Amino acid sequence: MSSLKSKYICSECSFEHTKFWGWCQKCSARNTLEEATVNNPLALVHTAPLEDRFYCNWPEVDEFFGNGIVAGAVLLLSGEPGIGKSTFLSQLCSKTNAKTVYFSGEESMHQIQLRAQRLKLKPIQIIATSRLQEITTFITQERPQLAVIDSIQTLTAETGSGSIEQIRQCTFELIQLAKITNTALILVGHVTKSGSIAGPKLLEHMVDVVLNFEGEQEVRILRSTKNRFGSTQEFVLFEMTEDGLQVVRDPSIRLCRKHNKPMIGSIIFPSIEGSRPILVEIQALVSNSYLQMPRRSVLGWDYNRLAMIVAVLEKHAKISLGPKDIYLNVIGGLKITDNTSMDLPAALAIISSVKDLPVPSDMCAFGEITLSGEVRSVARFADREKIAKKHGVSNIVSAAEIDMIKNLQSILKN
Ligand code: TYD
Ligand code: MG
Repeated sequence: MSSLKSKYICSECSFEHTKFWGWCQKCSARNTLEEATVNNPLALVHTAPLEDRFYCNWPEVDEFFGNGIVAGAVLLLSGEPGIGKSTFLSQLCSKTNAKTVYFSGEESMHQIQLRAQRLKLKPIQIIATSRLQEITTFITQERPQLAVIDSIQTLTAETGSGSIEQIRQCTFELIQLAKITNTALILVGHVTKSGSIAGPKLLEHMVDVVLNFEGEQEVRILRSTKNRFGSTQEFVLFEMTEDGLQVVRDPSIRLCRKHNKPMIGSIIFPSIEGSRPILVEIQALVSNSYLQMPRRSVLGWDYNRLAMIVAVLEKHAKISLGPKDIYLNVIGGLKITDNTSMDLPAALAIISSVKDLPVPSDMCAFGEITLSGEVRSVARFADREKIAKKHGVSNIVSAAEIDMIKNLQSILKN
């Protein structure tokens, strides 16, 4: 027995969609989807129509995913060991009303239950296994709406375990299964500190959504670098507390401490991260170098842009930075995506540090710096101004105040 079901095929790349979209989810071509009615053998598998999406009942996370989780979608959550992936997923499983199962090959049932108790989580179904066979049998029989697999590195199959090829093969089988059973899967993948992600990286093209969990100290940031069902621009900021991960509703307060006195080397930057304007604190430290090759180090920003700003400051603002070590840090572990707008605050933080000129506590800056030493305006001035003023940083330095960086030092002297 089979039934008639609509599908939508992209006239550009032939990718098949189960629902209508304004653009192709594979090649992004617009208005290319054409309806085709097909004899759907999968109807043999689905006896009842399944909901398209379900919700985690965690508003910020649902919004971040692009309106809940799509049935049958495969998500890859990667991050360093200990960053909080299992904590996040335990909380998510306990919040959602969807039928979920948590397969853990990393921790024993006891460990997970202890955590769940400590976090006062609603009970979740946990199965301590990493055997692919057991996982697929369970999903096929029980048809959960969501299955978490923690982690892909511990998955084992009849043919062995651990190798990259093995991980890829297991993932491939799980993806096939997800599409047939309409179970959404969240696969956990560890990455190492140096960012070499031999395992997860190879899977990124196979899955629908790639999520990254990062941060430092208590701050955690959930971002997506690929999302077939929503934007990759958004992020959710959490704080790791004794009661697990809590969403930070106003990231600006968490990411920039408002100083009540002038600070050397520290400035506030109204950034646009995703669709949202937020304030972040940028710090620079410039010191005499005792190395043959002075050290340039940047956390949370583009290394090449730092090198460029240093060169432009040398050339056009006549500030000698050659024999100096330079450190630049975005506080809180956020990786800035609004890269060019950070040129001006980065330059000001560097000048402040090298010249020992304090930055007024109510000062913030944004703007692009060109190779010829000009300061250019960047998008969304009004939004940046609004958030800065809301948080009492009303002394705004942008292309409107300064057009050439040769005059930059005077901004701090006044
Ligand atoms: P975990 O979720 O086990 O990390 P991952 O799965 O990414 O390896 O998180 C472990 C860390 O989180 C651990 O260092 C303790 C900390 N933590 C808290 O601070 N508060 C909590 O409520 C929980 C559950 C963990
Ligand atoms: Mg874990």
